[in-house]
Amino acid sequence: MTPSDSNSAEIGLIGLGTMGASLALNIAEKGFPIAVFNRTTSKTDEFYANAGDLAERVVPTETLEQFVAAIKAPRAIILMVPAGDAVDQQIAALRPLLDKDDLIIDAGNANFHDTNKRAADAKEAGVPFIGIGVSGGEEGARHGPSIMGGGPKPAWDRVAHILEAISAKYEDTPCATWMGEGGAGHFVKAVHNGIEYADMQMIAEVYGIMRDGFGMDAAKVGEVFDTWNAGTLKSYLIEISAAVAKANDAKSGGPLLDIILDKAGQKGTGRWTVIEAQHLGAPITAIDAAVAARNLSSRLEERKAGEAIFGAAPKSLSTEALSTESLEMALIAGKIVCYAQGFQLLRTASENFDWSLPLPDVARVWREGCIIRSTMLNDMADALTENADQNLMFAPYFSQKLVETEGSLRRVVAAGALHGLPLPALSNALSYFDMMRTGRSTANMIQGQRDFFGAHSFERLDSEGSHHGPWKQG
Ligand code: 6PG
Repeated sequence: MTPSDSNSAEIGLIGLGTMGASLALNIAEKGFPIAVFNRTTSKTDEFYANAGDLAERVVPTETLEQFVAAIKAPRAIILMVPAGDAVDQQIAALRPLLDKDDLIIDAGNANFHDTNKRAADAKEAGVPFIGIGVSGGEEGARHGPSIMGGGPKPAWDRVAHILEAISAKYEDTPCATWMGEGGAGHFVKAVHNGIEYADMQMIAEVYGIMRDGFGMDAAKVGEVFDTWNAGTLKSYLIEISAAVAKANDAKSGGPLLDIILDKAGQKGTGRWTVIEAQHLGAPITAIDAAVAARNLSSRLEERKAGEAIFGAAPKSLSTEALSTESLEMALIAGKIVCYAQGFQLLRTASENFDWSLPLPDVARVWREGCIIRSTMLNDMADALTENADQNLMFAPYFSQKLVETEGSLRRVVAAGALHGLPLPALSNALSYFDMMRTGRSTANMIQGQRDFFGAHSFERLDSEGSHHGPWKQG
């Protein structure tokens, strides 16, 4: 196709970075002619030149005017530009060229507050806008991502056939679902990313036990992950962890993992999840710990200074004291707790923001395409379909699994504590589990303290109303 093929594209896409380019090819491959535009024209040319057979369904354009003219009205335009100001600038540049019923779709990793604001502005202006969370990295965008939509339902419905066609499929069911109004889709994506951080961190923690505790080499760790990937833990993240552990480095000739610097980066979505959870009073302790662990990992010099003062911890641990099977069980328990926290956050947000988030559908949409895809998510979808209001830890299937695995989680966390092997996400998951199975907590002491210094009052177990202690009498 050429720019002269005006009005021929079913949809348009702006932003041909890695994700945008992959998504555009995916859309073309599924049979939808697509107009593309990038601020730097050379990128558009390069994209078009490399589109192969799919080029016949691509309309490359050099100006926004050409781009808009190339799309059939009423138009649908996907933005795949960096989250933040770039999105607002792109919308501002585009809107004057559009008709009132032309739909803008922000497919970047937007902060849901920004999406809420953009949705409200669009509503006021009487123009359609939706925000979609897209997960699955480059590969997912190219061959089938998981898509979490938010905004006016009629606007979603206009493009649902395209989004469903390009999405991943779980046994023929498309992993593309409308989650609710405004920023609901981007919120669900943020929680996905928070869970992604915790899932990755817990895997890294058990890797630490195998490497520093058991003294296993990377290839052996990879083999252990491969075994786990045949069981309850079967997931994309375990699969890639095995591949990462087994990879060899051409330069050094040794395991690649051993020479990767131990400083983890982040783009911020995990942090957003934690901040929002605090605002909502929805504890996500494993996710919180995972975000903090990334921050701590970045403090490499400080960590080295700490090691110089305190010495490295006495890490060594025998496989007789702790088996790799206990690690697997501990990871299962930690994973259940972490997802239970994530779904509790979604539940709380849904109530607070009046979204009616379809929690079973959230689990369903995460079963394929996205980074946290796993077989366990199918069991979560079943449990949430049975009872969407219940903490996942209490669902019969998962409570049974926790009964079977919590002992291992406890042994692993205890061994980590005794041997100086840091397990922030797993130990926070264990504390959450223990707090959630404690009918009589220690918050009576907190209430007593609050009343003592601030006359905040407390409730009593044996009578109604609010009470004060005797402390002010003397
Ligand atoms: C996905 C990922 C992806 C993620 C980036 C950056 O679902 O495809 O979650 O969107 O945001 O890979 O993640 P970091 O915050 O780790 O940089």
